[in-house]
Amino acid sequence: MGRQLKLNLFIYPGGHHEAAWRHPKSRPDRLLDIRFYQELAQRAEAAKLDAVFYADGPALESNVQYATRFRLEPFTWLSAIAAATEKIGLIGTASTTYLEPYNAARLFASLDHLSGGRAGWNIVTTGAERAARNFGLDEHPPHAERYSRADEFVQVVGKLWDSWEDGAVVSDAGTGVFADTSRIHPIGHQGDHFRVEGPLNTPRSPQGRPVYVQAGSSADGKAFAAKHAEAVFTAHQTLQSAQDFYADIKALAAAEGRDPEKLLVLPGISPYLGSTEAEARALRQEFDELTQPEYGLGILRKLLGVDLDGLKLDDTFPDDLLASAGRESSRSQLLLDTIRRERLTVRKVLHRFAGARGHYTVAGTPLQVADEIQLWFENGAADGFNIMPPWLPGGFEAFADEVVPILQSRGLFRTEYSARTLRGHFGLDRPESQYSPAGQTTQQLQGAHA
Ligand SMILES: Cc1cc2nc3c(=O)[nH]c(=O)nc-3n(C[C@H](O)[C@H](O)[C@H](O)COP(=O)(O)O)c2cc1C
Repeated sequence: MGRQLKLNLFIYPGGHHEAAWRHPKSRPDRLLDIRFYQELAQRAEAAKLDAVFYADGPALESNVQYATRFRLEPFTWLSAIAAATEKIGLIGTASTTYLEPYNAARLFASLDHLSGGRAGWNIVTTGAERAARNFGLDEHPPHAERYSRADEFVQVVGKLWDSWEDGAVVSDAGTGVFADTSRIHPIGHQGDHFRVEGPLNTPRSPQGRPVYVQAGSSADGKAFAAKHAEAVFTAHQTLQSAQDFYADIKALAAAEGRDPEKLLVLPGISPYLGSTEAEARALRQEFDELTQPEYGLGILRKLLGVDLDGLKLDDTFPDDLLASAGRESSRSQLLLDTIRRERLTVRKVLHRFAGARGHYTVAGTPLQVADEIQLWFENGAADGFNIMPPWLPGGFEAFADEVVPILQSRGLFRTEYSARTLRGHFGLDRPESQYSPAGQTTQQLQGAHA
């Protein structure tokens, strides 16, 4: 069997279009009902998807006035999804800036046990500055410091997950020995950011460690991903930009002595489907027209760092204003490039970013959307995608019912699960404990290579 797509369902309360909840197709009344999400995850599992992904940030977003931008706590949510599914992966976000390694290690090890080896960790340093004041800080730590802490954080949790070797649980009722403590190791970590004694108080989990996912796109972010990540989430508006990112991140991983095939690149795609392209475009237009300009303008001001008051919705952006715009994050750069490349009006930009916050949005027939996915997959732009339904549940059900079968018929996507774990779905190895003899040999070999 040839190379196959990795497909995740990226669940955002209400859907990825910021105004989706206002559309008659949506079910805003069910957004705090866990059964709504369990049904979605079961639907994704029936379509044989790799994982469901749940984003998070430990602070209320400023635009909840106009959009369903609240959060349920990821591990509570993922545990409920784990209980209602069997094979689909469970990727949740946890911050290396606003969590302690020992707690993060317990949360993921427990989720991996509860789910029979389906946990994935979206490693973020948290971009939202206002989170700082929820954790007793006056200032949000600077970007570079957040990544330095994140690097050590990943090393500490790695040691904690490895602190129980495989087979440490002997459970011998005859001798009364439950665990072989010679195979349970304190980690004694002393670093710039953390001092952690260990061992973890949870036995080694089915996957050994959750799958490491990351979504950085800055220089520090990409360097971090190249060193640690097994999958990278990313946002691109064009095939070319996705191809450049793909080549770049794979080269960085190779420079770290890693196999680039073990670092999956997964851009986001937000599909609108119709029996004709015109119908699909009209559907997207319906959602865009529900956008509250004030909501979008708030995001634009933040991303561009400029005053937009003088502009009308159907004005294009004056060059001098674009020249003075900030580059707050890679998402700002993506926005500026898009505005310049397509000479968009303010209204067009609001609609474009309302859809999926800078991720690729496509409107077409199921065949056209399948063709687009195949194009990126077969031309060095993606190893798979985060599917970002504009609205829920229908926006995903249409994709699962109409696009997935086409991808399966072309041999591009699985028709049956061949594994039970997320590592199995992603084609990733199960790491040895660094404290086990085999793990120490691996480390020596890697050390020799480095
Ligand atoms: C698909 C995707 C999902 C993301 N999910 C989260 C999230 O759940 N929480 C968060 O704080 N940041 C999230 N981010 C933001 C990234 O973690 C990162 O901060 C951002 O891409 C900027 O990159 P940088 O950290 O390299 O500057 C996500 C980004 C992408 C592309």
